[in-house]
Order: sequence, then C-alpha cells, then structure tokens
Amino acid sequence: MYDIKKIREDFPILGREIYGKPLVYLDNGATTQKPRCVVEAMTEEYYNVNANVHRGVHFLSQKATELHENARETVRRFLNARSTNEIVFTRGTTESINLVASTFGDAFLKENDEIIISQMEHHSNIVSWQLIQARRGIRLRVIPITDEGDLCLDKYEQLFNPNTRLVSITHVSNVLGTVNPIKQMIVTAHAHGVPVLIDGAQSVPHMAVDVCDLDCDFFAFSGHKVYGPTGVGVLYGKENWLDKLPPYMGGGEMIKNVSFEHTTFNELPYKFEAGTPDYIATTGLAHALDYVTSIGMENIHAYEQELTQYAMKRMAKIENMRLFGTSANKDAVISFLVGNIHHLDMGTLLDRLGIAVRTGHHCAEPLMHLLGIEGTVRASLGLYNTKEEIDILIDGIERIRKMF
Ligand code: ALA
Repeated sequence: MYDIKKIREDFPILGREIYGKPLVYLDNGATTQKPRCVVEAMTEEYYNVNANVHRGVHFLSQKATELHENARETVRRFLNARSTNEIVFTRGTTESINLVASTFGDAFLKENDEIIISQMEHHSNIVSWQLIQARRGIRLRVIPITDEGDLCLDKYEQLFNPNTRLVSITHVSNVLGTVNPIKQMIVTAHAHGVPVLIDGAQSVPHMAVDVCDLDCDFFAFSGHKVYGPTGVGVLYGKENWLDKLPPYMGGGEMIKNVSFEHTTFNELPYKFEAGTPDYIATTGLAHALDYVTSIGMENIHAYEQELTQYAMKRMAKIENMRLFGTSANKDAVISFLVGNIHHLDMGTLLDRLGIAVRTGHHCAEPLMHLLGIEGTVRASLGLYNTKEEIDILIDGIERIRKMF
C-alpha cells in the first residue's frame, strides 16, 4: 500500500504555509524536497564523523571514507551497474554530461564528426556539445519531435551515417514529460556501432533504471532531483568506455604519481574525481536512494502515473487550455498556457495561492522556439503530491483565468 500520509510526514517542509496557504509544491522537476532521513544523516556525519576522505590514516578519515564508498555501492545497486568502478561522483547531471562531452571530444572527435541529440534536450545536453563543436568542428544532428512531443524514430534512424560518433538524449523531457523509448534507441545506435549517453535527470526520480538492461554506455543524473542533497550527481559509464577517456579535471585524488615532468593517473572511478568530493552529500544521496527504494520505484511510478493522468484529464477541461506534451508515454510533468495569460503572471498568481510551479523556458530554449512560445507554466510532480493538490492547482488556474 502507498502510504501517502506517512510519506508526507517524512518531508517537514510540506507542512509549512506560504502566504497563509498550505504549500502545494509542484516544482519537483527543478528540485525535490528532502526527507528527514537525508538531512539527519548529513547532519550526523558533520557532527560526528567529518574528515576528508581517502587522505588520512586517522579514525575519522577512515570512517568518512567508508561512508563515501558505501554510498558509491548504494548508487551501483540502485542503477544495477556491474561495478563501483563505473560510478563517478560529479556535481550533477550537467557536470556529468560536460565530463563526457569534453573527454570524449578530446579522445575521439574530429572535424565533421556528428553527435545526435534531440529537439527536446535541456541546455546542458546542447551547450556541452556546442563547446566541443567550437573546439573540434563537429556537427550536431537533431532528432525532430511530433506535435504530441514524441521523438520521430524514423527520422532518428535516418540521421546515422559513417560520421556519427555518439547519441546523447534525454530519458524524460523536463518540459513535455515524454518518456523516450531509449532501450529501442540504444539498440539502433549500437547496430551502427555508436555509443549512447542518457540524461536521466528527469527519469531517475520517477522510475526504476537498470543500466545493464538498457545497455546504455553513459547515464547521468542529479542527487537533488531524487530527494537527495544539492551539489552531488552521478555519471555511470561502462568501464571499457571510462577506461578509454582521458581525465576531465586535474588535481588531488585523480592521480597516482606526480612529478614536474610526468603524472600518472589514478584508476577508475577516481581518475574523474579531482579534488575533495562532497562526501557529506554522497552520504545524503545514498540515504535518498535507500528512501525511494524502501517505497519501491515501481510503486512510485504507478502512483505518479495515476496522478499525471488525473491532472492531464482535469487540465484538458479548462477553457482555453494549451497543454504541451501529450504523449501516451508521459510522466509527472505538465506544461501549459491558458489563453493569453503570460506564464509569469500565471506563476506569480499561483504562488500567492501557495502553489509553487516553474515558469519560463525551463532551460530548453530551442524547444520553446520550435513550439513558437516564450515559455510555459510547468507543474512537475513528486512522490508526495496528491490528487487534492492537483485539485487546488486546477481551482487556482480557474480563478486566475476568470480574473483575466
Ligand atoms: N533542469 C531543471 C528543470 O527542469 C532545473 O527545472
């Protein structure tokens, strides 16, 4: 049974009021709230364990290292990776994608090589490649989308040619909520001998991800979007790929031996982890992953699917409602505009009713250009949201619509 009452009690912030109204937090695509167990584990480590990891023989350093490496094992288990060598801690999805773009670019890309992305990518999966484009003269090929917000798979297949070097696509769109058929897309890419990077920022909080089953070559996600702390994220990479890539940043931890003439690099995954890692955040992330696992990713997915469908049905009945992203495979994200009401006005007025939504281009400006709009209002759901909260959102939108 999905005990929503108990789940909500795990998140102290959900009990607060905004402008005298109960908070309705519907901005989970931007960041999620934190359960007590995550904050308490981090506080406990700061109060009783804190010491730098991998650097000390003393008790606290050993203890902190143990917690940090246990967290890596928790992430490995969560993603079903083969080895902790495949789990690199980063600051988040953006850094994970930049790491691959930069190192893959240095190792394998030359002029006229091509990277396939899609029209629904977030800026981090566009601009990272444009930086390499400027350095290496590569080309970006872009998979178009349908009116419903699905990727055109026939067009995707046609984009492959002997110059294609990598496919880098999002699992779930942060604007449209579309869940892309990545497993099938990975099979297609591999049939052409091309590796695939998946941006999992918007999927990991909502569904079980098994990197072995997907057979993706790289997978990126952020801690703070999956009920963990800010400042930590993960890059999963198949060991044979990570081995082939050069280091991303230089510094302590990523080296074996350093002299002024020559440096040798550490083994995986430390080769990509220069400097002191955010070891308190990795503990927090592990507790967040244990928390969602204890509820069950399948249960979370089923519950959020029901909420999404309920919200979409009710939203569609609002007069002059324009919904962006109506794919049959859609998850937890509802982007909309009502009549001529500016997204910023809608968001600001909803806020006065205690409802937190995101407004604007959602770091996906090329998608906005394609849709011919400046921005949308976005309600994005999390495991603690309820149908009652959707009703409050709908009532709020109706009230604002009538005001205009
Ligand atoms: N990428 C995050 C969002 O969609 C910040 O809101």
